Amino acid sequence: MASVVGITAIALLAQHVQAVNNGLARTPQMGWDNWNSFGCDVSEDLLQGTARLIVDYGLKDLGYEYVVLDDCWSNGRDASANNSLIVDTEKFPRGMAAVADDIHELGLKFGMYSSAGVYTCGRFAGSLGYEEVDANSWAEWGVDYLKYDNCYNSGEAGTQKLSHDRYNTMAKALNATGRPILYSLCNWGEDYPWNWGPTIANSWRITGDVTDFYDRPDPRCPCDGPDAWDCSLPGFHCSLLNIINKASFVVSKAEPGGWNDLDMLEVGNGGMSDAEYKTQFSVWAAVKSPLIMGNDLRIVKPQDLAILSNAAVIAVNQDPLGSSAARRWYYETDDVDQYGKGSIQMWAGSLNSTTGGEYSDMVVLLINGNNSNMTMNATLVEVFADSGGAISDQAKIAWEVRDLWANRMSNEEAQAIIDASSASGNYTSGFNATRVGGENRYNATAKSYSEGLSDADELLLGNVTTTVQPMGTITAEVERHGIAMFRLRAVPTGSLRKRTEL
Ligand SMILES: *[C@@H]1O[C@H](CO)[C@@H](O)[C@H](O)[C@H]1NC(C)=O
Ligand SMILES: *[C@@H]1O[C@H](CO)[C@@H](O)[C@H](O)[C@H]1NC(C)=O
Ligand SMILES: *[C@@H]1O[C@H](CO)[C@@H](O)[C@H](O)[C@H]1NC(C)=O
Ligand SMILES: *[C@@H]1O[C@H](CO)[C@@H](O)[C@H](O)[C@H]1NC(C)=O
Ligand SMILES: *[C@@H]1O[C@H](CO)[C@@H](O)[C@H](O)[C@H]1NC(C)=O
Ligand SMILES: *[C@@H]1O[C@H](CO)[C@@H](O)[C@H](O)[C@H]1NC(C)=O
Ligand SMILES: *[C@@H]1O[C@H](CO)[C@@H](O)[C@H](O)[C@H]1NC(C)=O
Ligand SMILES: *[C@@H]1O[C@H](CO)[C@@H](O)[C@H](O)[C@H]1NC(C)=O
Ligand SMILES: *[C@@H]1O[C@H](CO)[C@@H](O)[C@H](O)[C@H]1NC(C)=O
Ligand SMILES: *[C@@H]1O[C@H](CO)[C@@H](O)[C@H](O)[C@H]1NC(C)=O
Repeated sequence: MASVVGITAIALLAQHVQAVNNGLARTPQMGWDNWNSFGCDVSEDLLQGTARLIVDYGLKDLGYEYVVLDDCWSNGRDASANNSLIVDTEKFPRGMAAVADDIHELGLKFGMYSSAGVYTCGRFAGSLGYEEVDANSWAEWGVDYLKYDNCYNSGEAGTQKLSHDRYNTMAKALNATGRPILYSLCNWGEDYPWNWGPTIANSWRITGDVTDFYDRPDPRCPCDGPDAWDCSLPGFHCSLLNIINKASFVVSKAEPGGWNDLDMLEVGNGGMSDAEYKTQFSVWAAVKSPLIMGNDLRIVKPQDLAILSNAAVIAVNQDPLGSSAARRWYYETDDVDQYGKGSIQMWAGSLNSTTGGEYSDMVVLLINGNNSNMTMNATLVEVFADSGGAISDQAKIAWEVRDLWANRMSNEEAQAIIDASSASGNYTSGFNATRVGGENRYNATAKSYSEGLSDADELLLGNVTTTVQPMGTITAEVERHGIAMFRLRAVPTGSLRKRTEL
């Protein structure tokens, strides 16, 4: 018996020293990347202006930290300077170090992009074979984050070892600079990066690129449906449900320092309904994906700012345990729309915080992929399946059901924040960091999520809607393509616990 326990302890330890050892992304990284809304249309003004808006809109104080410049920033290599990458000075007249300085001055961090290939996806010079010289350039400019793509990889893929080795060359080059640079590996889930990514990177993309649709199938994103995880052609134009399905198989790979990346947020880009954007934000948070905004903040709509600003949902993402929620069930529905059959699913996962008593809080998600509103149910037996289901202690006690969307910022409040920003719609003006109604909103700069959770800060815990009784069922009305997201908090079990506390 003792040796069995010993082996388990060693296995756990081994799992934890596996993560890349650069001290970064102990909780999933948060920030903004220009790709989803701007593509190649990048410039110094865009990054500066967006960085200011991130501060102005209070997003920095909610944890959004990295401002990431995606593809299309370079202009060949300089043969007279070790073949280092040349910055496109039409787009970045003062060079990259100046951009990094401006972003750092605002208390934010700067990310950049390249590809582990001969070219980037936009056919600019790639970093394959130039890992050291490029890593040195980035470190010299003050870069804090690298998104490293997979285009034009010269066939150096197809086995886990080929992909690992190609990406590891950059991991080593980044490490050798001595500058902590968050390594965001982006090979679209090819060659099972969740197996080898944790040893070299802080996050790894698990699928082809996300698109701004909820469930639209697209032949450019093959491997669709609830069982399609083993995908040798990840493609792109992947819908939310496509990505959520693929994520369901690899949730156990997430841990502090290394995360499954479900790709950037589409919230605010206009292709989906409010319910659908809430679904993306909620699932990405619960699965511990990086939360990288992808919208044009100059024209952000109040309802989208309200989604991105939901601290109770972000607190699930930033929970110090770093354990992903897992899918508990999935059912097809009777419904058939233009995209085929609908589906419903339930996910649940442990959180570190024991804000209510001896049992850790749980997050529960009810996802309605049916083509009409539905009453959905989750039993405690299903929620606590991993703890023994019907025979678990947790299913036999009562739980507060706290709605993590109940205290969503109103559109009026979000609009007031947007209006108060003098930088709004104008990249060149100064910024106004006064946040309207700031005192009612969580400020993660003043108090980290980890501290807020161990203090049981009400702004992070959601609003109590009901109490579910022992062996009971949680029921929620869930909008078409929407989601219900709850934090379950154990109701202290009466006198015994009170005596213990005295
Ligand atoms: C080229 O690289 C060498 C060795 O890494 C370094 O000493 C030298 O300063 C570099 N030259 C330029 C122009 O960057
Ligand atoms: C480089 O790797 C070593 C060994 O894992 C680690 O201790 C160190 O912090 C890393 N340095 C950087 C800058 O990432
Ligand atoms: C988890 O929560 C417990 C109780 O609040 C706390 O003691 C512990 O430090 C937390 N763990 C992490 C990783 O923050
Ligand atoms: C799903 O939606 C369809 C119509 O939109 C409806 O007929 C059906 O009852 C719903 N529920 C299930 C479980 O299929
Ligand atoms: C949830 O429970 C309600 C009430 O018991 C029932 O009407 C409904 O059909 C259930 N929904 C599903 C999806 O099973
Ligand atoms: C939710 O709780 C917060 C803080 O406890 C409170 O200010 C707010 O009015 C509540 N919202 C709703 C919709 O009940
Ligand atoms: C900043 O916004 C606040 C709130 O709307 C306003 O009172 C203040 O005048 C603004 N400050 C500047 C410098 O624009
Ligand atoms: C943007 O700000 C600059 C500098 O404050 C000002 O001159 C310009 O008129 C503003 N443009 C708009 C569209 O508000
Ligand atoms: C958040 O807290 C920090 C540190 O206390 C403070 O500087 C900042 O102004 C606060 N932000 C808001 C939006 O109130
Ligand atoms: C579905 O639910 C939403 C949100 O509660 C509501 O606005 C809408 O009217 C409902 N639709 C139907 C057909 O009941």
